[in-house]
Amino acid sequence: MTGPTGGLEVGAEVEVDVTAFAHGGHAIARHEGQVLFVRHALPGERVRAHVTSAGAGERFLRADAVDVVVASPDRVVPPCPWAGPGKCGGCDLQHVSLTAQRALKAGVVREQLARLAHLEVDVEVEPVPGDDAGLDWRSRVEFAVDDAGRAGLRRHRSHAVVPVDHCRIAAPGVDRLEVTEHPWSGLEAVDAVAPSLGEPVAVRVPEDGSGPVVRERVTTSWSGADGTTVTFDREFAVDARGFWQVHPGAAATFLAAVMGELDVRPGERALDLYCGVGLFASALAEAVGPTGQVVAVESDPSATEHARANLADQPQVAVVTARVDDAFGVARPSRRGTGRRSSAPRRAARSPLLPPSADVVVLDPPRTGAGKAICAEVARLRPRAIAYVACDPAALARDTAILAEAGYRLDRVRAFDAFPMTHHVECVATFRAG
Ligand SMILES: C[S@@+](CC[C@H](N)C(=O)[O-])C[C@H]1O[C@@H](n2cnc3c(N)ncnc32)[C@H](O)[C@@H]1O
Repeated sequence: MTGPTGGLEVGAEVEVDVTAFAHGGHAIARHEGQVLFVRHALPGERVRAHVTSAGAGERFLRADAVDVVVASPDRVVPPCPWAGPGKCGGCDLQHVSLTAQRALKAGVVREQLARLAHLEVDVEVEPVPGDDAGLDWRSRVEFAVDDAGRAGLRRHRSHAVVPVDHCRIAAPGVDRLEVTEHPWSGLEAVDAVAPSLGEPVAVRVPEDGSGPVVRERVTTSWSGADGTTVTFDREFAVDARGFWQVHPGAAATFLAAVMGELDVRPGERALDLYCGVGLFASALAEAVGPTGQVVAVESDPSATEHARANLADQPQVAVVTARVDDAFGVARPSRRGTGRRSSAPRRAARSPLLPPSADVVVLDPPRTGAGKAICAEVARLRPRAIAYVACDPAALARDTAILAEAGYRLDRVRAFDAFPMTHHVECVATFRAG
């Protein structure tokens, strides 16, 4: 089936050779000059691809591999019966061995750093400790509810609800809630949350009132500035629907990775930007001690309220409720694609709570990254080290290039498989002055 210009149309099926795996989880194939992003395929395979949609401006086509003609040795039978063309859109790598999933993600991190930051970096994607199978980990699952009140998971790029009986990546606490067994008429979604402490909760969306609060415990250790082992064991209150890492081992893993690199010393000044409920700020506060100072910035007022309570025993921490760009007094970035500045009001001046300099900075921004203005402001603080926690390798690579221009070189990047069976990967990068 071809369109007026001779290219493939939605609904067409063609046999193609898959040549690469790209950022965003797409396998890449070409057909007579057209680029196809093929789901459920692997590099090195020959597949029959069914075209499902056209990308913006028809520059590329999206397709599903509906038949595998020549299989990759990395292909496995998906552990979940709901994974595959036309089924649940939650996982995109169930058909790939766990070892190969990690190798593909490492390739994406390497490729983004090479393309956007012009750096050749050897990266390995490490498992989150204790995760051998990549299943039963997701401690937060948003179940969509259809018009009949049935809960399930969304089909890829669709509002359709797939009646998944059991999500294979969901944590056992989420399964215990049996969300898909109950009717949920009148709701948009049900968020199932299985915290590390206490009972799992099913939160109705839209929420009625402020919503439940859960408790998370983080226990970990790292090697401190003087070579001794630092142990960390704290509890955090967080809104059930607020930000917390979804893999049960992720918060402890990222914290140890960050603190192990920063070598924070007593009396130092630290910044925790995009601090959530205070995970990194609490460890920084322990490291700088009562003579040091930590400033933590976060835009969600409920998260900062929790952060203040979670860190109430650490008076060396000041928690600032503000967007990071507003706190620095810089212009907000343009809204994606519009070229216009955000119309929302912003603070005219830098927050007096932000210090003029810092010894170390932790950056843990959302997917869009910190961006040019924030990276420039962070560099202006002249920290000796910056730890950057990134859930999008492209954003990390863009910000790596900006930090390099501002005099900060990428010293080390670690990558973690905190979202097995999906294309997502988390990086912890350390930048040092000079
Ligand atoms: C990836 S989470 C990190 C949270 C925290 N560091 C943790 O590990 O739990 C990003 C956080 O940034 C917050 N956020 C998003 N945009 C922001 C902005 N412009 N300024 C400040 N915080 C922002 C979100 O509310 C969220 O809590």
